[in-house]
Parts: sequence; C-alpha cells; structure tokens
Amino acid sequence: MKVGVVGSGLVGSTAAFALTLRGTCSDLVLVDKDPERARAEAEDIAHAAPVSHGTRVVSGEIDALEGCGAIVVAAGANQKPGETRLQLLERNADIFAELIPQVSAAAPQAPLIVATNPVDLLTDLTTTHAAEGQAVLGSGTVLDSARFRHLIAQRAEVDATHVHGYVLGEHGDSEVLAWSTAKIAGLPVADFMAARNLDWTPEIMAEIDHGTRDAAAAIISGKRATYYGIAAALTRITEAVILNRRAILTVTGPTDYGISMALPRIVGSGGIEETLMPQLSAEELGQLEQSAETLRHALDSLSR
Ligand code: 2OP
Repeated sequence: MKVGVVGSGLVGSTAAFALTLRGTCSDLVLVDKDPERARAEAEDIAHAAPVSHGTRVVSGEIDALEGCGAIVVAAGANQKPGETRLQLLERNADIFAELIPQVSAAAPQAPLIVATNPVDLLTDLTTTHAAEGQAVLGSGTVLDSARFRHLIAQRAEVDATHVHGYVLGEHGDSEVLAWSTAKIAGLPVADFMAARNLDWTPEIMAEIDHGTRDAAAAIISGKRATYYGIAAALTRITEAVILNRRAILTVTGPTDYGISMALPRIVGSGGIEETLMPQLSAEELGQLEQSAETLRHALDSLSR
C-alpha cells in the first residue's frame, strides 16, 4: 500500500517519518514544490526504514502519486508567532486551487487527508477542487482532542489513552471543548476525580481549556511551528483509512451547519463513513453554532 505526502515542510516530513516508524504502508512518496527539499527529506527518512519496517520512501513529481491508497496534503504556509490559523486562508486557498486539481488528476481514487490550515475551510475547498466522488477529510480536531485528553490525564494521574473526550468545531480559536463527552473509566471526569480525592475545580477546567485552545500558539512562540502532535494525528487518520480501521476520530467533513468542521466520525477506507453527533449540553451546542458561524464568516470574506 502506497501513501503520498504532498508538502515536505515540517508537518509533511514529520508525518512521513511517523508513518515510516509505524510501518503503516509499504511505500511512501514525498512531493514538494521544491523537489530538492522532497528528495532530501525522503532520503533522510529512508534511512530509518532498515531499522524499522522497511518502508520504501522516495520523492517524486505529482504524477508519482498515482496508485496511492491515501494522500496527506500538508502543503502551504504555516502560522507565524501571533498569527491565527484563519489569517492563512487567502494564501493557502490560492495554493490549493492550483495544487488539488493536479493531485486529483494523478490519483482520483485516493482519499485526501488535508492538514494545512485553516484546515476546516481548506477541506471544503479541497472538496470543490477534487475529482468527482473523491473522498476528502481534514485532520480537524484530532490533535486538539489529544491535547484535551493529555491535560485531563495529567490531572487524573492516569494513562491518556484511557481518557476519552472530544474537541469539536473549528480547529482554531472557536473550537468547543465538549466536557460532556469527557469520561475516564466510564465516569464523568468530575466523578472520577471526586472518587479518587483529586482536585477538580472550575479554575482547573479553565486551565485545561486554555491549555488546549492555546497549545499551538504556546508552542509556536517557543519553536516557531508544531509538528510532532499533528504528525501523530495524521498517522492515526491515515492508518484508519488505509487499514479500514473504522476508528472514531474528530476529523473535518460536511456538517448540518452549512460548513465543514470537526465532529466525531467513523473513518475507514472510504474516508468519512459516518458522522456521529454526541449528546451535548445546550451551552456546548450554542458554542458549536458559534464556531460554525466563525468559519462561515471567514469563508464569506474570502469570496468577497
Ligand atoms: C496546531 O494546532 C498549528 O494547527 C496547528 O498545532
């Protein structure tokens, strides 16, 4: 099984490295507008193959994507310190308008996994430019949900893989931390903490909200980019697609709110197989509507 990664910047190449270390696919092809960058990243990553799973890692032109079982699209500009994801829209929308038709011409059957920000809006635009019927999904809030779970797990003093909970809506400042979905060992987080005599206060919840929502800005201010977390999220999504895992992940796709954004979805070989709506409080539903409004507004400003 071959996977393509379009864009060999920090996110694309780290995702390719993670896919190689996990042995997700037999073949991996890196494509970039700068072929020398793609060549160098592919060569560096290929040296990890003999000591991991033997993945064949190469670089190529766009036509080398032919036959891919999934393609991660990570091309485009990323945020500078102090910039929001939505501020990248115009620049990256232009790049996608040119890039996606070429990618789709080379591999019209391959599900496209969009990672570039603002990911929700670029997922919508990718659907517009992709081949008829081609599956398109965005990395959405898979990373934000992981950040949310990580911070709860730290407070709960348990393994983060055993903490469940979703961040929904925009992958960005208006995202919704759906506390009503957060559970540990089948218990709402507050009950789990009370049962174990651990602190749990509105201040701690506010800290977790801030730590989740502002994680990217905090990392970017220290090292100019985020790439390990998103690379792991992209690997998880890619595996769900090419191995038909039917994993439940908060990826971006169409919603009833008239815009694409993240909701829990069953992800398998057809990309998004089904969308699931968790039981949310009235307040969370209001926040989700607000998040959709933020995205609709940003998209409108692009067409103006
Ligand atoms: C992140 O959340 C910047 O969207 C990227 O890490």
